[in-house]
Amino acid sequence: MSRVAGKVVLVTGAGSGIGRATATLLAREGATVVVSDVNEAGGRETVRQIAAGSDGAAARFEAHDTTREADWKRVVDGILEREGRLDGLVNNAGISGPFPATFETETLEQWRRMLAVNVEGVFLGCKYGVPALRQSGGGSIVNTSSLAAFLGTPDLSAYGASKGAVRQFTKTVAIDCARKGYKVRCNSVHPGIILTPMGEAVMPSDKAKERTRRRIPIGEFGAPEDIAYGILYLISDESRFVTGAELVIDGGMNAI
Ligand SMILES: NC(=O)c1ccc[n+]([C@@H]2O[C@H](COP(=O)([O-])OP(=O)(O)OC[C@H]3O[C@@H](n4cnc5c(N)ncnc54)[C@H](O)[C@@H]3O)[C@@H](O)[C@H]2O)c1
Repeated sequence: MSRVAGKVVLVTGAGSGIGRATATLLAREGATVVVSDVNEAGGRETVRQIAAGSDGAAARFEAHDTTREADWKRVVDGILEREGRLDGLVNNAGISGPFPATFETETLEQWRRMLAVNVEGVFLGCKYGVPALRQSGGGSIVNTSSLAAFLGTPDLSAYGASKGAVRQFTKTVAIDCARKGYKVRCNSVHPGIILTPMGEAVMPSDKAKERTRRRIPIGEFGAPEDIAYGILYLISDESRFVTGAELVIDGGMNAI
């Protein structure tokens, strides 16, 4: 019950799905969690659920658009001022865009929006998160990539490219921080198909859903909590020797 006790962790995109499950699990395991999202109602609901669900679990909400540099400065400075430290950062906020979107149908505007949220948001998170983690004596960053980082994704062309970029950039941050002695680890998680609003959006009919389910070796979809447990491990000190790694949580899809 206390795998991350005493740690202060910022989780972006925590107003829904995987981010909400992660914030909730981290809080249950003793962390003080800053729940951030552009969706204020969703973020506040996560904080409400955390407070209602577990004795003494601590969380607060920050309105935060991860594509905006000024938001990152405000949120990170605010954490250092209020909580006094930052030990973990989960760069989870993301979008999947219209579906299907092939490279032939995707507009330049959609492509740029995808990269702004899914890649620039992670870049800014690392840029502003690393100094705060260092100032706190070190810490851990987890970037939410995807199974899409390993495969061609013809129906999600910009999404796949964005998650490939997150996978690679994570290793760059990991190695740079390690070589400079920053005591900041950085790893990526790669969810398969997880039942969240985003996951459901790529399976528009019951038939499509059943077809997709049959492609998963384990035979069922993932739950947000399946990803949250992986992130918990990477944020905790149990993973102190792990950096630049890819944690695939996908029911076996990437192994076939
Ligand atoms: N669900 C899946 O099957 C799946 C698979 C692989 C990877 N992922 C990744 O997991 C992460 C979480 O996805 P999810 O399935 O929980 O989706 P979701 O849509 O349920 O939640 C995403 C959250 O991110 C927030 N968000 C979007 N743009 C933002 C911005 N600019 N600033 C701040 N917050 C923003 C949304 O408001 C939402 O609350 C994403 O990075 C996604 O790409 C999901």
